[in-house]
Amino acid sequence: MSINLTMFSSYHTLYRLATTFTDIKSFAIGIAKIYKSAFEADKVTVVLKTINSAQYVKVSFKNQSKIIKKGGVSILTKVEKNILKQENEIILNKRLVYPFTFIKTLGGIYIKRSKNLKKFTPSEKKWFYSLCEETSLTLKIFALYKEQQKLILSYIKSISNFLSQHVPTSRLHTKHILQILKAMEKELSLSKAEIRSLEFAALLHDAGKMGLPRKLLKKRKPLTAEEFELITKHPRKGTELIKDLESLKPVMPIILYHHERYDGKGYPSGLKKNQIPLGSRILSVIDSFDAMYFGRPYRKGISIEIVKEELKKQRGKQFDPKIVDVFLKILRRKSIKKVLGIC
Ligand SMILES: [Fe+2]
Repeated sequence: MSINLTMFSSYHTLYRLATTFTDIKSFAIGIAKIYKSAFEADKVTVVLKTINSAQYVKVSFKNQSKIIKKGGVSILTKVEKNILKQENEIILNKRLVYPFTFIKTLGGIYIKRSKNLKKFTPSEKKWFYSLCEETSLTLKIFALYKEQQKLILSYIKSISNFLSQHVPTSRLHTKHILQILKAMEKELSLSKAEIRSLEFAALLHDAGKMGLPRKLLKKRKPLTAEEFELITKHPRKGTELIKDLESLKPVMPIILYHHERYDGKGYPSGLKKNQIPLGSRILSVIDSFDAMYFGRPYRKGISIEIVKEELKKQRGKQFDPKIVDVFLKILRRKSIKKVLGIC
């Protein structure tokens, strides 16, 4: 591959790493792989400081072997400690060292070619410098993104706590339901991004009920047409609470359509079957299970056997049949029965 093409591909991969934002260990592995392949190095060591703690992640690739360590300063060798103290790059014939800095030190890299390989060329050295600058910037973005994630999570938790205290609604924030949700996610092989969105939606799906009269939410008798009309607005109101948070955009359709029915008779849009987002179809089953089994502050729960019968009756009507089958399968597990206190 020509140097320009390799450069372009490395920047692209770095950009992709920055925008997929996994954990810091995966990030360090990704960075080490980029440099090892781009510079045909025999040895690459990447050290990254973990965000908001004095811990380090160290990834070393030497020929075919890979060593990953996480811990305090004791996991670093004397040379690695010196790299982190450096303010400038060290560019030698077969060794390149660079501290990743952005106002303060975020980490560093050391790459080496063995004696029998050619020296780094002047253009490779220049390119190394430029890629390291780009990596420093990417690390800063990663740190800012993590900070933003923490803020969003605390925002979601505050809304969820408020909801559980003031709105007689689902208990999807509870340990029991979250455990069932996690089992569903695994069984349905959801991606990390889908899991994150679904779990946020589980906490926030009824947030739009906050503005509704408590009397209406607790009403046992059938709702009047006007009251039902008011209730049907809560999914859209819920999405309005998070519409300005860019990273919660994938959560919005799950919340908006969590009262759609598989047969198209739900609200707000009357979507059917696969038109309904997968997350909403999962949430719909879990939410109904929660309402039936645990009940609500104004209504007692029913036995697990009756709940199962109800879910089967609504298979293909209210609920996606595949999701009901997976859910019933999970309910048969000993660990889940224990969580629900039925064994
Ligand atoms: Fe709802």
